[in-house]
Amino acid sequence: MPIRDVTPQDISFISGLDEREFSQYSGPGHMTCMKYMNEPHTLTLIHTNNETENIPTGFVIVQWSTTKSCSYIIAIAVAPEQRNRGVGSSLLKECECRMREALGPHGMFLHVGEHNSARKLFVKHGFQDWKYDPHTPEMRVSLYRYNKEKALPMAKVIT
Ligand SMILES: CC(C)(COP(=O)(O)OP(=O)(O)OC[C@H]1O[C@@H](n2cnc3c(N)ncnc32)[C@H](O)[C@@H]1OP(=O)(O)O)[C@@H](O)C(=O)NCCC(=O)NCCS
Repeated sequence: MPIRDVTPQDISFISGLDEREFSQYSGPGHMTCMKYMNEPHTLTLIHTNNETENIPTGFVIVQWSTTKSCSYIIAIAVAPEQRNRGVGSSLLKECECRMREALGPHGMFLHVGEHNSARKLFVKHGFQDWKYDPHTPEMRVSLYRYNKEKALPMAKVIT
């Protein structure tokens, strides 16, 4: 399945999914993904239906720190009609691959909503619940700002 770097043509796809999936956590119109993807040390990958039509079907946004040697998945989302076909898994695998190339072996982190069934995807890919550690104080259980759902930290060692 084709995965490529983001282009300006993908912005409306990302902003649409961002609002649809993540406004429940950050508030309507907050556009979390759109804000993060323009920050330094951030990679946005787009999954497309095929190389000819090149229509976006999903995205993942990951940020990294070379000083701390870790990466953080900010968001992953797949268009609703494209789910359960392996798109999310392909995006995660490519994300891991690109971060391994950039950082070598390191820790990959994310937060997922306590009630979000997407947690199963991360467990399937080897992520585990992360217990508080003073070296990564930002990776703690927190609350999403809008709906106050618990944001649970998960982590995986990228070898
Ligand atoms: C999470 C998400 C990206 C998964 O994308 P996807 O393309 O459907 O995932 P895949 O088809 O690769 O699924 C791989 C496996 O994980 C499981 N899985 C994935 N998403 C799941 C979900 N939401 N609930 C339950 N199981 C899920 C699948 O059942 C599948 O397992 P199987 O191979 O044993 O059947 C998609 O559901 C989505 O966009 N959700 C809304 C946004 C979101 O919540 N993102 C995560 C927080 S950042």
